[in-house]
This record gives sequence, structure tokens and C-alpha cells, in this order.
Amino acid sequence: MSEIRICGYRPLSGEIKIQGSKNGVLPMLAASILQKETVKFTNVPTIQDVTCMVGILESLGCRCRWEGSSLTVDASECERSEIPKEDVGKMRSSILVMGALLGRLGRAVTWYPGGCSIGSRPINLHLLAFSRLGARVQEEDGRIEASSAKLAGGPIILPFPSVGATENALLAAVLAEGETQLLGAAREPEIQSLCLLLNQMGADITGIGTSKLRIRGVRELHGTEYSVPGDRIAAGTYLTAVAAAGGQARLLGAPWDSMQEVVKVLRQVGAEVEPVFGIGENQKTNIEGISISMEGRPKPITLSTSPYPGFPTDLQSPMLAVLARAEGVSRLKETVFEARFKTANELWKMGADIEISGNEAVISGKHRLRGARVSACDLRGGAALVAAALAAEGETRISDCIHIERGYEDICRDIQGLQGRIQRIP
Ligand code: UD1
Repeated sequence: MSEIRICGYRPLSGEIKIQGSKNGVLPMLAASILQKETVKFTNVPTIQDVTCMVGILESLGCRCRWEGSSLTVDASECERSEIPKEDVGKMRSSILVMGALLGRLGRAVTWYPGGCSIGSRPINLHLLAFSRLGARVQEEDGRIEASSAKLAGGPIILPFPSVGATENALLAAVLAEGETQLLGAAREPEIQSLCLLLNQMGADITGIGTSKLRIRGVRELHGTEYSVPGDRIAAGTYLTAVAAAGGQARLLGAPWDSMQEVVKVLRQVGAEVEPVFGIGENQKTNIEGISISMEGRPKPITLSTSPYPGFPTDLQSPMLAVLARAEGVSRLKETVFEARFKTANELWKMGADIEISGNEAVISGKHRLRGARVSACDLRGGAALVAAALAAEGETRISDCIHIERGYEDICRDIQGLQGRIQRIP
């Protein structure tokens, strides 16, 4: 298994392009099953999770073709309704295919994804949405089957704004008969993109960007072309790396509008964060990315993660790395996933002082972090270790990098683009 070696304690500097959004493209790929023509996606990140989703679509009968960072999905022959069990174990987002299969074929079979390192991650809200649309949901020995001769729109109330459940409800409802009101929906930018794609395919969704989505069922959807927006979490990871290690960076393709809470928090810790304007006539409205500049140690803060538009849970671990170097004591509360502090143990090995109590971390900032042998516990935790290692004195070796590859096209390429001393060791 490959390792990453980082020699830190030197400011970052440079300009890089941010990959397309992982959490954006996965539900969009699932959505492509809902039409019988082709959907062409551009700016698709070439990451493990996308490869896995493409494998699932092909196993269902779709034909997928890559051309550079474009991916075309021909779903004319999508006829199988069972998601392979081994893929469910590899990637939890395979659950998103369920809503699309229900919409397309009236039947979907999958397997319980089980827990993962950031928490138990149940799927009860996904199944609740399918039931509300009239599907019969049966569970036996970890196998889940949802089926319906004809889905019927109706009210769905989500008690928590689950991103995946909102996406699955949308995917199942767009071809249902009648109108669905989805109340308590998650408002993440990735859901907004999914709605825009579905509408471009012929769906009728209103209330986009709010917690109350109205979906009027249509008879069929058609093919289209769609450009995947920049990845706000990958961009946020590199912003935190600069906030931890110091220096400056321009991140082209980073989505300024959907990162306002992250920008606010990074400004609180002392970074200068600004939009990068494009050239041309509409210069002031044409934002092409985000720039950051950071001098000295971060300031301590109190922060809590929450569903969008709050501070994203996916950047909680990278923020731990920033606050580990702060000039005082910070408090960071995790409100979305119950067990997302595993990375704190690894940061300890690098000299960080982080005390976990329940869902809160108290971080006593240290002047120096030191390089160490650490292990990536999960995707964003692994990225946090990269940020910490860039700020730490000496050499850090990160093992289990396979987690990082699930979501970052090439974290070494990107950090090298910022003059960071980082290397993958096979
Ligand atoms: C998505 C993102 C993930 C991000 C998370 C929260 C993708 C592919 N992944 O994950 O990166 O960290 O949103 O922003 O987009 N819950 C239930 N029952 C359910 C579903 C969820 O209790 O049926 C709970 C979960 O255990 C968790 C919380 O709701 O505590 C949030 O989960 P959810 O928003 O569904 O996250 P995902 O869609 O899995």
C-alpha cells in the first residue's frame, strides 16, 4: 500500500486548478440512469469513488466512456436492478443508485452498507422517502429491496436534513406520478446541482436551494450535457493547508459562493481570503476561484459543524490541523457525525494537544508540530494529516493513503503545485 512522505515547515505558494466535485458528481451519475439517451458530464474528477460508481452503472447495463475529464453515460440499456454487494462495501454512495433505479425500473435491490469510520451512518431516512412515495421496502439478512409498480408523489418530511436521503428522494420522485413536497430537505450545493441537472433533463423541481423542494413528476427525462462544479471540500482542504503552513495560494475553479462559511472561519483564524476575479467585461461578477494568504500562527476560535450553509463536517478534521498550531485554546464541536474525531489520535503523534469529550474537541494550540509516522483513518482525516504535515517540522509519513485517493485526484500533484515538499512512495 502506498505512503505519502511530506517534509513540512515551509510556506506554500502557487496556483492550482481545483478538481470537479466528488459529492456533486456521484448523485449526478446515479441520475443519468433516469433517462434512456446519453448524459455527458465534463470536469469529472478521476477518483476512486467515481471509478466505483462507473463500475456500478456498467453492472446495471449502462455504457460509460471517458474522454479526458469528460464522461458519457449511455443508459439506453440499463435493465438490471441489483447493485452488486461488493460495490456497496466499497462505497456508501452506492445507495444513491437505489432512488434512480426505483424511478427507472420500479425496483431496486441493495445491501446494508454497514458502519464506517466516521459513524454508524444508517439509511432509515432514505427508506422512509421511498415508502412515502409508495414503494414497498423489504429488508432481510442485510438485503434491501424496494419496489413499486408506479411511484406516487406525496409529502415527505425528513426529520434531519440528510444529504443522501434528500438526493435519493429527488431521484425517485422526478418520474413519480403527481407532486412530491420534500420538507426538511438538505440544502447543500451538491443538491442544488443535482436539481439543476435533473431539470435540464426535463424534470420539474422548484424551491431549489431551500429546505422545501417541490417535484412535479414528469413522464420521462432526456439526455443532456452538464459541467460538474468545482469541489468545495477539496478547495477547503487546500485553504486549510495554507492556513496551517502559511504562505499564499490561488485556487482556480474553487466555488466562492458556496464556500462563504469556510471563508468566514478562515478569516477568523487570521487568513486573508478573497475571490479571484476573471478578466473581461463582467470582471466584478466573474469569480474564477479563491485566493488565500496567511502569515504567522492561526488565532484560536470556537466552531461548530452543521448542515449547509453551516461549516461542513467534511472540513472538521482539516480544521483540527489548523487549530493545532493556533496561539491559544480552540473548541470545535461536531454535530453531524458522531465519531469523526479519530484523526485527533494521529495528530497527537505529531505533537498536537487535542482533548475529545463527547462531540467536542478542545485544542490547545502548539507553537510547533513535528513530523511523525501516521495513518489516514478516513478520507478527510487523511487530508487533514497532509495539512498538518505541511505545517510540521521534519518528515511525516502517512500510510493507508487509499482513503485519500477516494476523494482527491492527486493530492501530491496539487500540493507540489503549491511548492509543498510531498511525494508518493509506492
Ligand atoms: C454526505 C456527503 C459526506 C458529508 C455528509 C454531510 C456525499 C457522497 N457524502 O454524506 O461527504 O460528510 O453528506 O454533509 O455526498 N442519517 C441518518 N439516517 C439516514 C441518513 C443519514 O440518521 O438515513 C444521519 C447520519 O448518520 C449522519 C447525518 O444524518 O449523522 C448526516 O448524514 P447525511 O447528510 O445523510 O450524509 P451522507 O449523505 O451520507
